Amino acid sequence: MSERTDFEQKLATEARAVEALLDQLLSSDIRADEIARPERLRAAMRHGVLNGGKRLRPFLVMESAALFDAPPQAALRVAAALECIHCYSLVHDDLPAMDDDDLRRGQPTVHKAFDEATAILAGDSLLTYAFDVICAPETAISDTAKVALVLALSRASGLGGMAGGQMLDIEAESRRPDEAGIIRLQAMKTGALIRFAAEAGAILSGASDEDRRRLRLYGEKIGLAFQLADDLLDLTADAATMGKATGKDAARGKGTLVSLHGEAWARETLSNLVAEAEALLAPYGIRASTLVAAARFVAERRN
Ligand code: IPE
Ligand code: IPE
Ligand code: MG
Ligand code: MG
Ligand code: MG
Repeated sequence: MSERTDFEQKLATEARAVEALLDQLLSSDIRADEIARPERLRAAMRHGVLNGGKRLRPFLVMESAALFDAPPQAALRVAAALECIHCYSLVHDDLPAMDDDDLRRGQPTVHKAFDEATAILAGDSLLTYAFDVICAPETAISDTAKVALVLALSRASGLGGMAGGQMLDIEAESRRPDEAGIIRLQAMKTGALIRFAAEAGAILSGASDEDRRRLRLYGEKIGLAFQLADDLLDLTADAATMGKATGKDAARGKGTLVSLHGEAWARETLSNLVAEAEALLAPYGIRASTLVAAARFVAERRN
């Protein structure tokens, strides 16, 4: 069996585990100090989350945690928390005021299936819930580790991370950033959550600063690769394969590295980024082979 097949099977198995937990977290059972879970909002959150994403970010959390022997159940909860933030970012990214998309993961976007106000609230609630899931007593790690995770995830998600990157991405439609500007906005809008995913295992297990630094750098490489692949797929793939509209970046005149340098450059850069990510993990030898395969998957993905 090829390495790729093994990797995809592992990705699918871990996706099922995180989906089972997300399903349970988004059940109708109210938790201590919650007053009620309004059914329409809960349904919209479920629509935005339990709809067949690749679950790559949760996978990176679980695999980086495994590298440092962190408790798998706690890692799974951190993975689910991060997926809540990722899904919130997609729900809001698709809104009419942002990318105005009707299709996500092969289904109507949340504002299409429900309405805009509900989609905004579903995003708000998913963002907030992520921090609940990390801090809840069921996440069996030290308070020190929880605070470190909450701090890192807040910074990855907010003003100086994903949301800030989305702002720069909108501005890029009218201001055409240069290469450095594009790299920075992509490191923020997409890279920050992926970097957090890679680093989270080291944080969870209280690994050394050196380990944390290596995983961060690995996350930065694959984060850049991930958005480069997304931009290539936007240009080359069809909506049925992607489960979302394609050809939108060119239509909106969005400055991407692909529009700046072309497809051939993008493919070569992708393979360089994979090699750099792989080199960063060399000190862990065979134990990091799944994370190495993840870097290849990011660059070679077809959807
Ligand atoms: C899409 O992310 C948004 C970007 C950051 C480019 P994914 O390609 O990981 O989307 P899902 O989670 O698999 O749907
Ligand atoms: C989205 O980038 C990044 C997010 C923070 C959601 P895109 O706008 O390119 O993502 P898609 O192509 O809609 O998934
Ligand atoms: Mg967008
Ligand atoms: Mg979009
Ligand atoms: Mg895109």
